[in-house]
Amino acid sequence: MSAKQDRNFDLFHRRFKQNVYATVKGRLRLEILWRDLQQAIPQLETGTPLQILDAGAGMGHFSRQLAEHGHHLLLCDISEKLLAEAQRNLSALPDSENIQFLQVPFQQLVDDYPAGFDLVLSHAVLEWLAEPQAGIRSLQQLIRPGGWLSLLFFNRNSLIYRHLLNGNFKKIRSGNLAGEGKYLTPDNPLSPQEVMQWLEEAGLEIISCSGIRTFVDFMHRDMRDKMAFEELLEMELRFSRQEPFRSLGRYLHVICRQP
Ligand SMILES: C[S@@+](CC[C@H](N)C(=O)[O-])C[C@H]1O[C@@H](n2cnc3c(N)ncnc32)[C@H](O)[C@@H]1O
Repeated sequence: MSAKQDRNFDLFHRRFKQNVYATVKGRLRLEILWRDLQQAIPQLETGTPLQILDAGAGMGHFSRQLAEHGHHLLLCDISEKLLAEAQRNLSALPDSENIQFLQVPFQQLVDDYPAGFDLVLSHAVLEWLAEPQAGIRSLQQLIRPGGWLSLLFFNRNSLIYRHLLNGNFKKIRSGNLAGEGKYLTPDNPLSPQEVMQWLEEAGLEIISCSGIRTFVDFMHRDMRDKMAFEELLEMELRFSRQEPFRSLGRYLHVICRQP
């Protein structure tokens, strides 16, 4: 039922393609996600193939990296256009027979794949769900005992800070921080404290948390454009786990383990 109100990205198709992964921001995101997962799950680079679900996979950018390491992937999304793009991006890979695509809400997979995956990815999806806490419970049910959840979500506090810096006090006073559909500001920006509580209530053990884009979004654009990507990455990696910088990350990446 909730899936009806979850945000289908068919409408954002073009904007998502241009604004996310064609930019420094998208590249930083992929690098930090990868660093975090490599540290938490050594089997990603060495062991036997893992069964991985990318829940809300979009165009499959991160899945591509995992597929290149020989893992078996199921990409699911409710957006026909983004999933078709993912299929185009991944079908040329050598082991593409190990990659499946399903156009369904991930919540519906629980019946067919209970505890079915070693690793479940939910990257930048939670903040687009009508019922995010129920979404976390569904994700948890899809992970096998001892398996992992890689949860990336949009940080409401970082949005408040940006509004403060821009003098958008009216927006803050209104209490409504939801996006207005024009840009990619999510429908449901999430409070980290609340998400952490939902994870604990779902019985998941939190093993790491990183901020992604802790300072890059706040830099003066001229300065940011002058810096080499490698330099920005070095600093983002360095401060991603250090408070108070981590808590300012535009996104937070939490890795959890199913007991
Ligand atoms: C911001 S995009 C992120 C895509 C991808 N995970 C990434 O990081 O590039 C959010 C995606 O979640 C999808 N989505 C939203 N609700 C969903 C649901 N209930 N089940 C599956 N996909 C969903 C949208 O269609 C969209 O493709």
